[in-house]
Amino acid sequence: MIIAIDGPSASGKSTTAKGISEKLKIMHLDTGAMYRAITLGLKNAGISHKDIENVRGFLSEATIYFDENNQIHLNGKNISKEIRTNDISSRVSAVSAIPDVRKKMVMIQRQLAKGNDCILEGRDIGTVVFPNAEFKFFLIADIEIRAKRRLIELEKIGELKSVSELIDDIKRRDEFDSTRNHSPLKKAEDAIPIDTSHITIDEQINKIINLINHNK
Ligand code: DC
Repeated sequence: MIIAIDGPSASGKSTTAKGISEKLKIMHLDTGAMYRAITLGLKNAGISHKDIENVRGFLSEATIYFDENNQIHLNGKNISKEIRTNDISSRVSAVSAIPDVRKKMVMIQRQLAKGNDCILEGRDIGTVVFPNAEFKFFLIADIEIRAKRRLIELEKIGELKSVSELIDDIKRRDEFDSTRNHSPLKKAEDAIPIDTSHITIDEQINKIINLINHNK
């Protein structure tokens, strides 16, 4: 069984997918973390996203894996914390728009989920990665609420930003992710929309689990 959860940044995908994976005891794949990992790797190697030749070279050597605690490793190093900074958030859209990057990430995502019950979260899961997923959900939330969620995440890693700055960052990223040529952020026609603005995390999780149980 494949469950696809797509939606814009800070719409509640990660918390929801994690909660569902724990309750249903199935695998959880955070595909955004993979694009963030490549973004961090390119930054640390001093390779610009415009330098396609070197991006390709980097990709051909890059290994990504998730350990038993769902921590992400790039080339053998746990980079789960480093990929959450605002600097990486501001760079990741440009990197994830590169066709070679998407090709490799989608291949890994299909390999990891193959033969497993898995909940995958991202932007193109229901449209491109698993268009035949048994269940598809598209999460949305008001922009102010999304910015406040991002603020709390950043505070946890000691980064201070204002809500209005974060609203601008999120709008910019939404615009970039939805208008890129390859696999743009888009609701699959058969995805069920869920607005997480005014419901608790538990309500989000239970709502989706109920929908899954009723449509099995
Ligand atoms: O969900 P997130 O904010 O961690 O995702 C980081 C970026 O990765 C996001 O701006 C767009 C990109 N992304 C993507 O293009 N396709 C996915 N399936 C997941 C994320």
